[in-house]
Amino acid sequence: MGDEELTAEFGVVAEWTADVVDELGPEYAIVAGCRGSGDPALLDWLAQACGVGPETALVDVGAGVGGAAAWVAETYGARAALVEPMEAACRAARRMFGWDAVRARGQALPFGDGQFDVAWCVGVLCTVHEKRALLHEIARVLRPGGSLGMTVLVADPALHSAVPMGNEFPGADEVRDLIAGAGLTLRESTEAPNGTTPTEWVLKADQVDEMLRKQHRKDQAWRDSEEQGRKLSHLLSTRQVTTRLLHATKSVGAPG
Ligand SMILES: C[S@@+](CC[C@H](N)C(=O)[O-])C[C@H]1O[C@@H](n2cnc3c(N)ncnc32)[C@H](O)[C@@H]1O
Repeated sequence: MGDEELTAEFGVVAEWTADVVDELGPEYAIVAGCRGSGDPALLDWLAQACGVGPETALVDVGAGVGGAAAWVAETYGARAALVEPMEAACRAARRMFGWDAVRARGQALPFGDGQFDVAWCVGVLCTVHEKRALLHEIARVLRPGGSLGMTVLVADPALHSAVPMGNEFPGADEVRDLIAGAGLTLRESTEAPNGTTPTEWVLKADQVDEMLRKQHRKDQAWRDSEEQGRKLSHLLSTRQVTTRLLHATKSVGAPG
């Protein structure tokens, strides 16, 4: 995505999300922060596949406002480093969770080689044009034997409906090639579970959405974001796009 599209999609709404959490209370922060792409079943799959625990050196690339990282800290005791290119989302992470995110793109991570046991990249690949560079860079900062956990919106070859602005959904073969091309070995790949989100989580997410809609329905950025959401829902419900969970590892003999 270009900077303007990124700002509209992930910056403005991030700031509004932090405002809504200020009003509703801190118990809404994780649910509000995960509205981008996570829920407990999906994040739990990633944490288990990657063997996340309290001592894990974890980096969340494209962390948004930090919802997934806050969930994994609360559930598995792991304190992730957050990387996020949008300044407004970094500010929102600080307001919502008290965490400083590193402002950077995943294609140029400001970390040394082999620094992390685990990298997460949740719902990010389809928003990035330079996918190969992103995966190479993530592989570089992983230690040999380290794990990458990703959720990826994967396009069916028969994709024909309108795609939300700024998204470039990779096909399944492309994702496999990208992973192998970065020197990673795909270990597991499965479709994200459906209908397993706890009721309490859904109710909180609905309240957050309702308040955002009430406060911003006249704002162009909110209308654009709703339109993006509608297009994506259509693609998912018609299975032109599916959400896949992936676990890959960096080979022990690899540099870094
Ligand atoms: C769909 S959101 C997902 C956010 C978060 N991972 C989550 O699960 O809630 C995609 C995120 O990727 C970020 N992003 C876009 N381009 C990126 C890039 N080149 N490198 C890293 N992150 C990027 C966006 O700013 C946005 O926060």
